[in-house]
Amino acid sequence: MKNKNFYIENYGCQMNISDSDIITSILLNNGFFLSKNLEKSDIILLNACSIREKAEFTLKKRLEQLKFLKKKKRIWIGIIGCFSKTIKNFFIHQKIVDFFVKPDSYREIPNFIYSSMEGKQYFSTVKNNETYADISLINSNKQNHNKITTFLSITRGCNNMCTFCIVPFTRGRERSRDPYSIIKECKRLYQNGYKEITLLGQNVDSYVWEEKNEENKPKKPKNIVEFSKLLDLIAQEVPFMRIRFSTSNPHDMSNEVLKVISKHENICKHIHLPVQSGSNKILKLMNRKYTREKYLLLVKQIKDIIPECSISHDIISGFCNENEEDHQDTINLMNEIKYNYGYMFSYSPRPGTYAYRKLKDNVPEHIKKNRLREIIDLQRNHSFYRMQEHLGKIEEVLIEGVSKKNNQYWYGRNTQNLVVVFPKESLNIGDISYVKIIDTTSATLIGKPYK
Ligand code: SAH
Ligand code: F3S
Repeated sequence: MKNKNFYIENYGCQMNISDSDIITSILLNNGFFLSKNLEKSDIILLNACSIREKAEFTLKKRLEQLKFLKKKKRIWIGIIGCFSKTIKNFFIHQKIVDFFVKPDSYREIPNFIYSSMEGKQYFSTVKNNETYADISLINSNKQNHNKITTFLSITRGCNNMCTFCIVPFTRGRERSRDPYSIIKECKRLYQNGYKEITLLGQNVDSYVWEEKNEENKPKKPKNIVEFSKLLDLIAQEVPFMRIRFSTSNPHDMSNEVLKVISKHENICKHIHLPVQSGSNKILKLMNRKYTREKYLLLVKQIKDIIPECSISHDIISGFCNENEEDHQDTINLMNEIKYNYGYMFSYSPRPGTYAYRKLKDNVPEHIKKNRLREIIDLQRNHSFYRMQEHLGKIEEVLIEGVSKKNNQYWYGRNTQNLVVVFPKESLNIGDISYVKIIDTTSATLIGKPYK
């Protein structure tokens, strides 16, 4: 069969990886073949991310390279997923991209490919009802044969409208996937050898699904499943699967969820809780709907209910109107919490967002960068401090592969999502090992097998 090899590349977050697995499943079911080799592929799909300027920049650079490949041979290139209008407008008149597919139109990719082979350029529009509930994920990463961890989207889109964020515009309104299809998929993944699933959503705590009758009206008696119930059900239905989830929005996280996490051994003890800023003034400008005080209270509740829980963050430095005092509020908040780890960014205005339209990007670039550097350095100290707490402990580690730095060591993660490396004495990828922690860096726990 000709012209049916596709190659897929990711430019973004975990959600993109999960989306690439959905797309792979759709294309394989339509007679296409997943290729490992870009040079030998007919169709190249770039799964875009527009959340920050940097990812868009990398995508543009990649397309410049592909332009040369396209001159050498006939290939079809699609930009798919979370791409902004800016990207679309930039490429629409150049003869590099053949089709643009938004996150709710992946089922149409085979048609887009066929149409573009007839010389038409295509783009889909935003829809708001797709959850891909019937799609069985297929690993899109051919490089990694030992896949034992995977991502599964339980909600799509976001209703929060944080003023800096492009996601509600690229991924549309929030909707939750049918819980029974989620459980079925978790069981199938377990049968296929997966040992860990991360449930994904921009805001997993706002997951809510209501059973409807034939007329699409709420069933009586009502059957409503919220996130705490969903977690509880999954933990029971796949008791030997490790379960993680991301992202928790501080505004929506409930005590019920915390209780379910503490109740089940197979739910990992880690919460990714983006704070973005420690200043109430900035949180308000960001439309984050919680205050510093509420956030600190939530962290206390987490530690009270799940004492061993690790907490990670996202922080943006240099958002509009951020002054030194606001920055110090972030520093103080970090000092108070001492996060296990975090993802830190300097603010980049995203066209179309409220902040882009209505607020001034008035923190000079060098100040943004200096503040970011200070935040990153502080986080490194806190990570090291938190890692020390594990010294001497026996931890349960899921082996994910061989350590990149030393092939005599296994690489895995403990329940807190911290990386652990330890000498390979026996066991295999996918096994759980008990490891005694004997040393640490700020990013890695070093252990030895515990017998
Ligand atoms: N749903 C998640 C965030 C998704 S975007 C939540 O609830 O917070 C991932 C992270 O990218 C955000 O947490 C934020 O820290 C960062 N981010 C988003 N837009 C950004 C922008 N315009 N500039 C810099 N960082 C940004
Ligand atoms: Fe973005 Fe805020 Fe939603 S950061 S993804 S609008 S929770």
